[in-house]
Amino acid sequence: MGFTLHNVAMVITGALVGSSGAILSYIMCRAMNRSFIGVIAGGFGAAPADAAGAAKTDRPWKRGSAEDAAFILKEAGQVIIIPGYGMAVAQAQHVVREMADKLKEHGVKVKFAIHPVAGRMPGHMNVLLAEASVPYDDVFELEDINGEFAQTDVAFVIGANDVVNPAARTDRASPIYGMPVFDVQKAKTVLFVKRSMTGVGYSGVDNEVFYLDQTIMLLADAKKMVEEIVKAL
Ligand code: TAP
Repeated sequence: MGFTLHNVAMVITGALVGSSGAILSYIMCRAMNRSFIGVIAGGFGAAPADAAGAAKTDRPWKRGSAEDAAFILKEAGQVIIIPGYGMAVAQAQHVVREMADKLKEHGVKVKFAIHPVAGRMPGHMNVLLAEASVPYDDVFELEDINGEFAQTDVAFVIGANDVVNPAARTDRASPIYGMPVFDVQKAKTVLFVKRSMTGVGYSGVDNEVFYLDQTIMLLADAKKMVEEIVKAL
């Protein structure tokens, strides 16, 4: 348009927008361990027919209540909160910060773990947590915190799914194979907030973490569930 209208400002603006978009896409592809061309060609997000598929509700899993979660969280030494796309959809970031504050009052160490592609755009979770005034010192990037799950009492997964899916390490047939993920399964307890057992993440695949012995599913809208946990605390 800038060239057609002989408008230099429009040419410069268009070039800046285009190149920033390309840079952000490149950063996103590196975080997903995918080639730029492969993602542009649409090779991510659609599960192949032989991949794990949506959640299998016939497998045993444990359901917990907000009161159960509050009790477990209060007794913990360290809690790592892993936010994802669902926290953004539910706009639960403010009440999550409230929950973190309450836990800190109980002497619990609380950290936030941010995956580079959590949500739907680079920096999505950082923006939401900053908006909710979560202190920067409590927010950690993937590579800085992933080693801590083995010494963590509770991994609190809220609205995240693909970024905590161990299939990315273990299942070569999975569309997310090769993407670095949080090792939440190493924590003593995993509290997993999502709305249903059948809802999947962006990649559309099942998640082994739902069925682990130490996992408790907290099935509800993220904001509603955390509000109830805060009340129980
Ligand atoms: P996802 O894997 O997309 O999982 C989102 C989870 O949130 C789902 O399990 C969903 O389950 C739950 N959810 C949705 N609405 C909710 C609500 N109101 N309350 C509670 N839970 C809710 O999220 P993620 O772990 O953040 O991963 C991001 C994915 O997007 C990755 O695969 C990434 O590659 C891809 N992606 C990222 C970007 C960037 S740059 N961030 C760009 C494009 C694609 P229910 O439906 O059962 O609730």
